[in-house]
Amino acid sequence: MNKVYKKETFLKLLGSISSQKEIRKYLERFSSDDYRFALIKVGGAILKNDLDNLISSISFLTEVGLIPIIVHGAGPMLSEELEKNKIDYKFINGQRVSSADVLQIAIKVFSEENIKLVKALDAEGVNAKSFVDDIFHCEIKDQSLGYVGDVVSLDVNAIKASIAEGFVPVISPLGKTKETNHVNINADLATLAIAREIEPDKVIFLSEVGGIFNENSKLISTININDDYDFLMKQEWLHSGMKLKLKQIKLLTDILPSSSSVSITKPLFLSKELFTDAGSGTLVKAGHTIRSFNNLDQLQIKAVKSIIESSFKGKLANNYFNENNNNYLISSCNRSAIVLSKKHKVAYMDKFSVISSARGEGLGNAMWKKMIKDNKKVFWRSKPTNVINSFYKDAADGFQRLDDWYIFWIGITDLKELISCIEFASKQPRTVIYDD
Ligand code: ARG
Repeated sequence: MNKVYKKETFLKLLGSISSQKEIRKYLERFSSDDYRFALIKVGGAILKNDLDNLISSISFLTEVGLIPIIVHGAGPMLSEELEKNKIDYKFINGQRVSSADVLQIAIKVFSEENIKLVKALDAEGVNAKSFVDDIFHCEIKDQSLGYVGDVVSLDVNAIKASIAEGFVPVISPLGKTKETNHVNINADLATLAIAREIEPDKVIFLSEVGGIFNENSKLISTININDDYDFLMKQEWLHSGMKLKLKQIKLLTDILPSSSSVSITKPLFLSKELFTDAGSGTLVKAGHTIRSFNNLDQLQIKAVKSIIESSFKGKLANNYFNENNNNYLISSCNRSAIVLSKKHKVAYMDKFSVISSARGEGLGNAMWKKMIKDNKKVFWRSKPTNVINSFYKDAADGFQRLDDWYIFWIGITDLKELISCIEFASKQPRTVIYDD
C-alpha cells in the first residue's frame, strides 16, 4: 500500500472513535517537531503479556509519520530469571538492588527483551533501532544499591539521529560508568533522564492497568498535579505503587515545559489517548492557576472576549462587559474563562468557555472545580443541541427541559428558589451573535 493512502486509511479508522477535526488537530500538533513528539515508557509486563497491541499501536504512529522514543522495562522477566537461577534480590524504594550476579542477568534479560521488541516491530514493517547500553553515562552514587547507575549524561545525538533516519529508538535502561562498567538503571528514572534532555510534548507510560483509578475503581481522567498531588498522596485507597508513580510523574512535570503532558494508558488505547480530547487513560498536567475577578481591566476584557468568541465561534454583544455585577474566573494561560452573573441571588453561570486547542487537557475540569468551590449554588442554561450537555447532566444535581433551553443547577434545594432560577435563566438575552 502506498504510504499516503495508508495514512488516510488509518485516520479514517481512528475517525470512527472521534471527529476527524479533533484527530487532525492532534496530528498537526504532534507533527510540528521532528524528534520531540513522544517518549514512551513500556512496562516489562506489556512486553510479556500485551506485545501485539503494543506493536500495532506503535506501527499506527509511524504510519502517520510520528516517531516516538521507546524506553522499556523488563521487571517481571528479570525477576523470573533471577528466581530460576536462585539469585536473591530485593528492592529499596522501588529500585532493584543489583549485585554483580543480578547485574549479569539484568544485562542478559534487557538485551533479549530489547531485541525481541525491535524484531517484532521490524516484522510489522516498523523501522526500529536497538540501544541496549549505549545511551546512558552513569555514576554509582548510592553504594547500598550495588551496580545501580545514576544518569549523569546521555547521548541525545544518537537518539535524534535515529529518529532523523526514520528509526524508532528502542532503549534499555542499562548504562556504563566512566570505567566502562555496566550498571542497571531503574527504567522510570531512565525515562526521566531522557525527558529532561529531549523535553518531549508527551511522556506516555504504557502499563497493563492503563491509568490511575479512584476509590470506586473509576479511572481518573485528568490530574492537575499542582492542585491534586497532596490530596492524592494522602489517600489510603491509592496503593504504594501508584503513589511512587505519581511521585515520579510530579518530578517529570516539574522538569517538562508547561505545554507538555504525561499520559498513562494501555497499548490498545494509545491512539485514542493521543488523538482525542477525551483520551482514554489518565492525563497528568502541571496544573492551571485560576483566578477570580469582579472587575476586569481593558487587557483582561480583551482576553475574556477572545476566549469566549473563539470557543463559541460567534461575536459577543458590544455591551457585554458593561454589566458590573459579574464574577470572572480566568485561567492564567488565558485559554479558558467562566462568567458568573450575580444579578440573581444564586450565581448564574453565563459563559463557560475553553478554546478548542486547550480542550482535552483537564483545563475545563479545573475551571469547573474552582467554580463549584467558590459557589455552593449555581445554575445555567444550554442549548439542547450543545455537545457539552452530557457533561452538564453528569455535573448537575438536576435539569429542566424547556423548548429553547436546558436549565441545569447545582446545590439548589428550595423549590421556590429553583423556580425563580429557571425563570431567570430562560429570560436572559442572547449575548453571542452568530453570522448565520
Ligand atoms: N489527546 C490529548 C493528549 O494526548 C488529550 C488526552 C486526554 N486524556 C485524558 N485521559 N483526559 O494530550
